[in-house]
Amino acid sequence: MYDLKTVQLANNSHQSKFSSCADVQSYAPGRIEILGNHTDYNLGTTLSAAINCGTSMVLSKSKSNGVNLFAADLNKSIHFDPTNNEKISEEYNWANYVKGVFYLLQYHDIKVNNVNCTFSGSIPMGAGLSSSAALEVATAYAIISYAKKSLDPIDIAKIAQKAEQDFAGCNCGLLDQFSSIFGVNSGLVYSDFRTLKVKNIKIPSDIRFIMINPDIKHSLADSPYNSRRVSCEKAVVELNKILPYDIKSLRDVDWKDFRENKDKIDSELAKRAEHVIAEIHRVEQSLFLLEEQKLEDFGKLLYDSHETSRLAFENSCPELDIVVNAAIESDALGARLSGGGWGGSVVVLARENETDVISKKMIKKCIEKGLNPTAEIIIPSDGAQIITL
Ligand code: GLA
Repeated sequence: MYDLKTVQLANNSHQSKFSSCADVQSYAPGRIEILGNHTDYNLGTTLSAAINCGTSMVLSKSKSNGVNLFAADLNKSIHFDPTNNEKISEEYNWANYVKGVFYLLQYHDIKVNNVNCTFSGSIPMGAGLSSSAALEVATAYAIISYAKKSLDPIDIAKIAQKAEQDFAGCNCGLLDQFSSIFGVNSGLVYSDFRTLKVKNIKIPSDIRFIMINPDIKHSLADSPYNSRRVSCEKAVVELNKILPYDIKSLRDVDWKDFRENKDKIDSELAKRAEHVIAEIHRVEQSLFLLEEQKLEDFGKLLYDSHETSRLAFENSCPELDIVVNAAIESDALGARLSGGGWGGSVVVLARENETDVISKKMIKKCIEKGLNPTAEIIIPSDGAQIITL
C-alpha cells in the first residue's frame, strides 16, 4: 500500500520535465512518533508508525554528467555532482538530503551518476512528520534499485541518517528512517536502538490516531535538538560517576536508581535525562497495555510523555501545549507532541467512534485560542518500497 496520487504525480512530472519514462521509481512514507521521545539516540526504544503520506522518487538515465534533480512540488531544479560532499546552498536545502544519499552510497560501492531525478511528496513540510527522512529513504531505494544492487535495510537507514546529519546539520537518531522503512499496514513499529531490532505491534481495532498540525513551521537543524543530544551525553558521564554499575547510554539507567540519584547531578542535565529514561519506561509499559487493550492507561502514557517534554526536556512550545490541552478538554484518550519538538504536530489517541467528535471539538478549542490547525486521521501504512512500473 502506498499513496497512489503521490506516485502518479512524481511519475507524470518526471515525464513532462525530462521527456523520458522512469527507469525506477520508489516510495517512502513519513511517520508518527507515538511514544519514545528523544530515546533513539540514547539507544532506547520507540513506538511509531509509518503514515499514509510519503515521498516518491523517479530516476532515469541522462546523457549528461551529474544529477539533474527536479522538485516537482516546488517546481525547482538543480544540478549537482554526486561524487563530492560539497553542500548545496541554503536556498536549495531540500537537495542536500538527496545529494547526501547519492554521495554516501558510494562508500557501499553503489555509484550512480548521469541521471535525471524527480520527487514529489504529500507530507506537509515542517509538520514534524519526517518529510526529510521520507525523501532520504525514497532516494536510497531508487538509487540502489537503479544500480541493480541490494543493501540491508538497517544500512539504508544509517545512510539516510548520516545524510541528514552531515548534509542537513541535524544530529538525529534513527527513529524516522526506521519508521519509514519498517512500517506495516495497520500496525505499529517497535524499535530497539541498542539491538537495532524491530517488531510489529498490533493496534486494537477500536482506536485511531489523529494528527493535529497547528502549522507552525519548524526545522530541527535550527532548533535546540543538537544541544539536547549533547546534554544527554553529559548526563551519562555524570551518572556514571554515581551509579554502582557502568552505563553507556541513558538506556542503561534503571528508572528507580535514577529517581534515587538524580539530585546528585546537575539539575538541568537531570531534567533532560528524566524525560528520556521515563520515556523508555513508558514505551515498555505501552506494549503490555496495548496487548491487554487497556486503552485509557495507554492514552495516559501519551499525556505523561507530553508533560515531561514540557517540563523536563523543554521541547514543547505554547502552540503544542494548546493542542494537548484541547485534547484533554475534549476527552481524548491521550495526546502528546510527536517528533523532535519546538513545533511540528500533536498525535492524539481516540476511540474510533469518538474520532470525529473529538477532532471537531479540538479544532474549535484551538481556533478559540488563536490557532488555525488541521486534523488528519492517520492510517498506519507499509514502509518504503520500489514501485512496479
Ligand atoms: C526527530 C529525530 C529523531 C528523534 C525524534 C525525537 O524526529 O529525527 O531521530 O530523535 O526527533 O524522538
